[in-house]
Amino acid sequence: MTTPRKMRIGTFLAGTGSNMAAWRHPDAVADAAINLDYYVDLTKKAEAAKLDFVFFGDGLYISEKSHPNFLNRFEPVTLLAALAMVTSHIGLAATLSTSYSDPYTVARQFATVDHISHGRAGWNIVTSPLEGSALNYSKPTHPEHDLRYRMASEYIKVAKGLWDSWEDDAFTRNKETGEFIDPAKMHRLNHQGEFFSVQGPLNISRSKQGRPVLIQAGASTAGKAFAAEVADAIFATGGSMEDTLAFGRDVRQQA
Ligand SMILES: Cc1cc2nc3c(=O)[nH]c(=O)nc-3n(C[C@H](O)[C@H](O)[C@H](O)COP(=O)(O)O)c2cc1C
Repeated sequence: MTTPRKMRIGTFLAGTGSNMAAWRHPDAVADAAINLDYYVDLTKKAEAAKLDFVFFGDGLYISEKSHPNFLNRFEPVTLLAALAMVTSHIGLAATLSTSYSDPYTVARQFATVDHISHGRAGWNIVTSPLEGSALNYSKPTHPEHDLRYRMASEYIKVAKGLWDSWEDDAFTRNKETGEFIDPAKMHRLNHQGEFFSVQGPLNISRSKQGRPVLIQAGASTAGKAFAAEVADAIFATGGSMEDTLAFGRDVRQQA
C-alpha cells in the first residue's frame, strides 16, 4: 500500500498583495506592509486554517517607482521573530539574499529564529536580481547572474557547516563539575573558499530541526541547478500545467 502524499500549502503575505493599486481599495489596510497587527492577524488565520507556512519576500533596492508594498516594509527575518511569539505550529519563512550578506551573520539570524520558533523557520535563498542593490551595499558593481549563483552555492555550504558547529549534546552545562561544553563536540569549519573565509564555530547551537528549511526559486539554468543542489522546497512560478510539470521533472532529476 502506498502512503498517501500530502500537499503542503503556504501563503505569500506581501502587504496588500501583488496588484500595485490594491492599497486604494476602500477595505484595504493601506499600510499593510509595515503593520504588525495586520500580519499577526493573517498569520494566525493561516495557522488556524492549518496551512503549513507563511512566507515573506524581500528586496534590497527601491525607487519612487517601486511597488507600494516595497516602499515601506518590514525586514522579514525580524518579522518572523515577532510572528513566532504569537503562533505555535505554522512554518515561518522569509527571503534573504546571499549576494548582500555574510554567511556567519545570516546563519546566526536564522538559527535564532529557528530557536525562538521551536523549529519553524524557513529561508528563501535569493541572489538579488536588482542591480541597484549594489548602490546600497558599498559595492562597485552588482555581481552578474551566474556569478551570484556560484557565490550562493559556496555561501550555503558555509551556512550548513556553521549550523553543524555543535553536536546536539555539546552543551553539557554541568553545574557540579563546572563543564559548560564538551569541547570535543565543538567543530570549527575552517572554510577557505573562492568567496568566503570563515573559521567558525557559530555562536549558537543547532535548533530543534537542526537548521531552517531551505527554499529556493531559481528558474534559469544556474538557478535550477542551485535549487536542485540546496533546496528542501522549491517555488515555481508555473505558467501552463505542461511547463510547470516539465520544470518539476527537470529540478527533481537534477536533485
Ligand atoms: C514564489 C517566488 C518568490 C520569490 N521571492 C523572491 C524574493 O523575495 N526576493 C527576490 O529577490 N527574488 C524572489 N524570487 C525570484 C527568484 O529568486 C528567482 O530569481 C527568479 O525566479 C528568477 O530565476 P533566476 O534567478 O534563476 O534567474 C521569487 C520567485 C518566486 C517564484
